[in-house]
Amino acid sequence: MYPFPELLTPRTRIGLATLEEAQMLQRYRVDNRTHLAPWEPERTPGYYTLEACEHSIADSRDAALTDRAYPLLVFDPSRSRVLASFTFSNVMRGVFQAAHLGYGIDHAHENQGLMFEALEAGMGFAFGSLELHRVMANYMPHNRRSERLLGRLGFEREGYARSYLRIAGVWRDHVLTARLHPDHAAA
Ligand SMILES: CC(C)(COP(=O)(O)OP(=O)(O)OC[C@H]1O[C@@H](n2cnc3c(N)ncnc32)[C@H](O)[C@@H]1OP(=O)(O)O)[C@@H](O)C(=O)NCCC(=O)NCCS
Repeated sequence: MYPFPELLTPRTRIGLATLEEAQMLQRYRVDNRTHLAPWEPERTPGYYTLEACEHSIADSRDAALTDRAYPLLVFDPSRSRVLASFTFSNVMRGVFQAAHLGYGIDHAHENQGLMFEALEAGMGFAFGSLELHRVMANYMPHNRRSERLLGRLGFEREGYARSYLRIAGVWRDHVLTARLHPDHAAA
């Protein structure tokens, strides 16, 4: 049923969405519009339509098939509701073998350790099946929840980039962090 391997955790199922799941994605976007807006790029009103969700899912599947990005949804165990999402984007191969990680969780499921649980499985997938060497995640200095989450996941601070990403319409500084594949020792 799902051509992409599902990742299972005690409280979630994680996978690439199918077109039939567009309505679930729409519900997640609409329900979390206010919650996620301060941490994401500016969205047009069209972003919250069913059509935009269908396009996103089609793009996600194409991106994964072509090894460009892995936009994954975190579902409840019955795969009937979207709890969170995360993406390994900008996959770079060759001598880099790296990607960026972005994530967010439904406001009603924040502060339950669920994002950590899903991302632990996601990192296993990144360093396992995807054979990545480095995963990079960046956050705005005042995003304390993100700072704590990345710390728990074993990400280490690598730097500070001024005016790094345009979030909610404003170029914002970011703290740069990364986690390396545990078996790849530095030379
Ligand atoms: C950043 C974000 C994903 C963090 O979500 P989160 O729910 O805090 O993350 P976790 O899954 O790690 O949950 C950890 C919290 O759950 C608490 N918790 C409650 N029950 C728990 C359990 N059974 N197991 C583990 N932790 C539990 C922990 O104490 C912890 O709280 P603390 O950080 O205050 O100590 C979320 O705040 C979010 O979606 N923010 C908006 C989008 C965003 O910022 N995206 C990232 C941009 S860089």
